[in-house]
Amino acid sequence: MSFSTEDVINALRHVDDPDIKKDLVTLNMISGVTVDGNKVSFIVTLTTPACPLKEKIKKDCIDAIHQYLNKEVEVNVVMDANVTSLRNTGVNVLPSVKNIICVASGKGGVGKSTVAVNLAVSLAKQGASVGLIDADIYGPSIPLMLGIRGKRPELRLIKEKHFILPVEVEGIKVLSIGLLVDERQAVVWRGPMVTSALRQFVTDCIWGKLDYLVVDMPPGTGDVHITVAQTLNLTGAVIVTTPQEAALADARKALSMFRGDNINVPIIGIIENMAYFTPEELPNNKYYIFGKDGGKKLAEEYEVPFLGQIPLVQGIREGGDSGKPASLYGRENPVVAAAFDELATNVAQQVAIKNANFGPKAADTVLS
Ligand SMILES: Nc1ncnc2c1ncn2[C@@H]1O[C@H](COP(=O)(O)OP(=O)(O)O)[C@@H](O)[C@H]1O
Ligand SMILES: [Mg+2]
Repeated sequence: MSFSTEDVINALRHVDDPDIKKDLVTLNMISGVTVDGNKVSFIVTLTTPACPLKEKIKKDCIDAIHQYLNKEVEVNVVMDANVTSLRNTGVNVLPSVKNIICVASGKGGVGKSTVAVNLAVSLAKQGASVGLIDADIYGPSIPLMLGIRGKRPELRLIKEKHFILPVEVEGIKVLSIGLLVDERQAVVWRGPMVTSALRQFVTDCIWGKLDYLVVDMPPGTGDVHITVAQTLNLTGAVIVTTPQEAALADARKALSMFRGDNINVPIIGIIENMAYFTPEELPNNKYYIFGKDGGKKLAEEYEVPFLGQIPLVQGIREGGDSGKPASLYGRENPVVAAAFDELATNVAQQVAIKNANFGPKAADTVLS
């Protein structure tokens, strides 16, 4: 039995990434191939640390080696991840941030901030480097939801200019107007002050290298949305809605805004929050108090991915009010843990698919 590293690579050309539908070699996902007698080793670099298909891809690689080389071969597959980006091309704000994801809705109170916080900490828990911007200048709720109210970000003087260091909590980097000024003060700001404050979050803040920067948006479809969309070079938007008609109608406005010609932000998908009520002690009982599958049907109507359902659970509200996000601290409730894990995985997956499909040279956009 004798074969070369080239033979190994050719065997792996038969393995496709099931999401991107191209083979792993074409996608530049295979590296570090070594052959030693009948032992073969290589690295598979996936496009998200939380890849739901990790085990399947690993098994497909081993099967391909056995099928196309020899079934006696001992295969050692090292699974690695490197989040892809389309933001590293051309002029850019925040070039060291691979993906910027805004969380928006038409309506207030549907759970944007809850989703943004739990999405950010879930992505970080799965191994990504993550930042979170609270763009809801008039109603910042991120400091409360992460238990960092009253904490002041450090300033750093670089070349006679002050830069803000985001606050680090639960493995993510966070910036909110609520951390910089008295929470009651920003309420009286006029539009231009709001947009310039937001610009500062981006230009005067040291974010460092990030896989994902999540932006928690204010409600509605106003100036802040246009500023964020036009200045940040967004990867895409996650739309939060609850199942009832009033929220869906506003979600449609948000979808139309992001799809409009002057904004043109891709929709990563729709998440249905408060999809059903479930009592903590009876997780199998579901009560569809706001209607059933409203978000899911909206995703079908607009032909965008459906990212999942988050139940209405007392623990999620308590997690928000106590600064202990339910996706990290509410894991004794399996429904809650599963919902947020699925959300983070689906968002990362959709981002990877978008980065692979829309890039001019998609396979080469893997940043190191
Ligand atoms: N799935 C949920 N279950 C229970 N409470 C929730 C859920 N989602 C949001 N909440 C609560 O509803 C309120 C509004 O949510 P929030 O995330 O602040 O909405 P938005 O940012 O869209 O205004 C908060 O008190 C939050 O804790
Ligand atoms: Mg909010």
